[in-house]
Amino acid sequence: MTHPANHSQLPRETHWATHLPDEAATLRLGGLLADCVAPGMRIYLRGGLGSGKTTLVRALLRGLGVQGAVKSPSYALVELYVVSSLHLYHFDFYRFLDPSELGDTGVVDYFRDDDGICMVEWPERAGNALPQPDLDFTLAYAGTGREVSVTAHTTAGERCLAKYRSA
Ligand SMILES: Nc1ncnc2c1ncn2[C@@H]1O[C@H](COP(=O)(O)OP(=O)(O)O)[C@@H](O)[C@H]1O
Ligand SMILES: [Mg+2]
Repeated sequence: MTHPANHSQLPRETHWATHLPDEAATLRLGGLLADCVAPGMRIYLRGGLGSGKTTLVRALLRGLGVQGAVKSPSYALVELYVVSSLHLYHFDFYRFLDPSELGDTGVVDYFRDDDGICMVEWPERAGNALPQPDLDFTLAYAGTGREVSVTAHTTAGERCLAKYRSA
């Protein structure tokens, strides 16, 4: 006897990957994020130096209407952007070699801002101090372009993946 399909056990659409042949493709991907991010979302960006993490953040900020310079926060640890009532925190934990240092900085408090969107480069350098992200990007060199893979951990993240799939 066959059993009826149990849809709750179907794999959920939590993963998406694509090739980004040039910088314009990375910028387009970041721009699409601007249409689906919501207050409280956390977006983590992994990948080596020059893989395109800051490029993605810059495109998201531009898409949200941030017009000034978007610089890498490597030395400041975090840059704050304000768009009307929305707070956008851009973190870069590259220079953290020891995750235990993070506790002294107070930056984890920013993750409790429910109106905030947190974008984090090098989240792995914060150890397990950070909460789970809504969206987790991994970028890698692929020929002259990049390969990106994205995992959604929440329904808010899945909404963004759906946008990517239909773009
Ligand atoms: N898909 C792509 N293909 C080729 N070059 C890219 C692509 N996306 C971004 N770049 C380039 O790679 C570099 C990435 O720099 P950046 O975004 O600062 O990297 P990261 O923050 O990961 O260190 C930039 O010079 C950018 O123009
Ligand atoms: Mg960077």
